[in-house]
Amino acid sequence: MDLYGTLRPLLFRLDPESAHNLAFWLGARACAWPRLPEPVHPAGLKRRVLGLDFPTPLGLAAGLDKGATLLPLWKALGFGHVEIGTVTPRPQPGNPKPRLFRFPQAGLILNRMGFNSEGAEVVAARLRNRPTGLIVGGNLGKNKETPEDRALEDYRAAYRLIAPQVDYVALNVSSPNTPGLRNLQAPEALRPLLAGVLDLRKDLGLERQPLLLKLAPDLAPEDLDAIVEVAVASGISGLIATNTTLDRGVVAEPLRALVESKGAGGLSGAPLKAKAREVRKRILGALRGRLPLVACGGLGSAEDVQGALDDGAALAQVYSALIFQGPSLIQRIHSGLR
Ligand SMILES: Cc1cc2nc3c(=O)[nH]c(=O)nc-3n(C[C@H](O)[C@H](O)[C@H](O)COP(=O)(O)O)c2cc1C
Repeated sequence: MDLYGTLRPLLFRLDPESAHNLAFWLGARACAWPRLPEPVHPAGLKRRVLGLDFPTPLGLAAGLDKGATLLPLWKALGFGHVEIGTVTPRPQPGNPKPRLFRFPQAGLILNRMGFNSEGAEVVAARLRNRPTGLIVGGNLGKNKETPEDRALEDYRAAYRLIAPQVDYVALNVSSPNTPGLRNLQAPEALRPLLAGVLDLRKDLGLERQPLLLKLAPDLAPEDLDAIVEVAVASGISGLIATNTTLDRGVVAEPLRALVESKGAGGLSGAPLKAKAREVRKRILGALRGRLPLVACGGLGSAEDVQGALDDGAALAQVYSALIFQGPSLIQRIHSGLR
């Protein structure tokens, strides 16, 4: 049994957020270890995407390491890239607790964290000491109290601080836990948002740095088509799909009633898999190869990741499956990929 197999029963006896904090405390001790192993990636997994050389298509999705505190550990465990954040421009506490729930029987997580963030200044300072040999993306969001019509100012403020420290930036307009955020996916809101961030990218001399947009799985097919056209026309570099879902219909009864009793939030993990894949296929069809797509949502095995790559995704990210299966998931996926 691996170390996580031993730790998991203890972690899963704690409430999810305490387990997260304990795991991060242990992770920080591991990062301080001078002889953290160098990652081994099976030959043949390398790929060049977005103008960057990824040692493997597999990465860690946004939301786990919001503050970029465990980058050496993610690298040692074998991830090719890590998306830190969501980072908001100013620090904010996020939603009241409890705000994180796990359902191991279904490989499901419900969260309404609401962008708890140390703020862009603190995270940017930490990123100055990031390890080499790991691709780091910065996922950006807006503060809760910022009105929707001033969202661009927030994304620009966070971008100005974070972008110079990372390899790519992802704009998160798809978290369900910040009121109004998902409205920014509407073409009329999205156009000025993307243009405004791209302008700043140019002003900062970062034209060659990839800018991605992360989308929700709860968009209608025609809306996805429209968003793809806006994204391509804007000149951004790629899309990430998907974030968590608000759709309780992805959970089978009798668990659904229990999930519903926990209140608001986004669902992730195995029950999201089919829905996220359907959304990705629609996006890939609309994209017709014009931009790369990063697959995310319910991926929990080599077969899942291979399926996403075969569908046409350029890269893949996991979050929930890592919580349930532990870091051995990474090697398992790597050894099962063609
Ligand atoms: C507890 C939790 C917090 C998350 N926080 C963020 C976040 O801050 N920003 C973001 O873009 N996505 C966030 N996500 C979404 C994940 O990045 C991912 O898109 C989603 O969980 C689907 O992937 P999965 O099924 O592999 O977990 C979060 C997910 C979870 C479970």
